[in-house]
Amino acid sequence: MTADLFDQLPSAFPALEPMAPGATLLRAFALAEDGALLSVLDGVLAQSPLRHLVTPGGQTMSVAMSNCGPLGWVSDRRGYRYVALDPLSGLPWPAMPAAWAELARRAAASAGFDGFEPDACLINQYQPGARLSLHQDRDEQDFSAPIVSVSLGLPAVFLFGGDSRAARPSRWRLAHGDVVVWGGPSRLAYHGVGPLADGEHPLLGRRRINLTFRRAS
Ligand code: SIN
Ligand code: FE2
Repeated sequence: MTADLFDQLPSAFPALEPMAPGATLLRAFALAEDGALLSVLDGVLAQSPLRHLVTPGGQTMSVAMSNCGPLGWVSDRRGYRYVALDPLSGLPWPAMPAAWAELARRAAASAGFDGFEPDACLINQYQPGARLSLHQDRDEQDFSAPIVSVSLGLPAVFLFGGDSRAARPSRWRLAHGDVVVWGGPSRLAYHGVGPLADGEHPLLGRRRINLTFRRAS
C-alpha cells in the first residue's frame, strides 16, 4: 500500500496566518514566482536607483528606497508625499512590472480585498543593520485599499500592531516569498522592521528587498 500523497501536503497552500483583524500573513505566497519577480528588479532600479531619503526631521534613513508605478513615495525636509516624477531624474517613475501588480492583486484578493489596483510600489532595500522605525502608512488618499508587502531576500523581523506608537507590536519573522496584507481595521496599524541580521541569501546576497504596493490616489 502506498501512502496517499495528499496526506503529506499542507491542507491549504499557501498558509494564511491571521495577524490582526484585517491583517494576514501569506507565507511563501510569492515563493514560486521569485525568479520572475526578481528578473525585472534591476531594470526598474536602473531607471530609478535606490537612494537614502532624509526624514522631515533631517535624519537619513538606513533603508534605501525607490519606486515604480504612476506614483512614488518620497520624504525630504518638506515632508512625506507621493509624487509622479522621480526627484533624482525629473522623469516619471519606471512602470510597475505587470507580474508585480498581478501578484499584489492576487495577494490582496486572497486576504479578502478584491479589486485592489495598486498605483504605487515602494521598493525598500535593507542591508545588515538597516531598520524601519514604527510608523503608519497614511500618506495615501483613501484608506479603503489595503497595503500589500512582499518580502524577498534575507529574513527580517516585522513589527506589527497597535493603534499608537506606544502600543507593543507583535513580532513576525518574514522570509523570502512571504507576503503581508493589511487593511480594513488594521489599515492604519503601526508597523516597522527590526535591524536586519547579517546573512547571505542565494538570490539576493546580503540584503532584503521589500516591495510595498499601495493605492495612493
Ligand atoms: C514599509 O513599511 O514600508 C516596509 C515594510 C517592510 O519592509 O516589510
Ligand atoms: Fe510602512
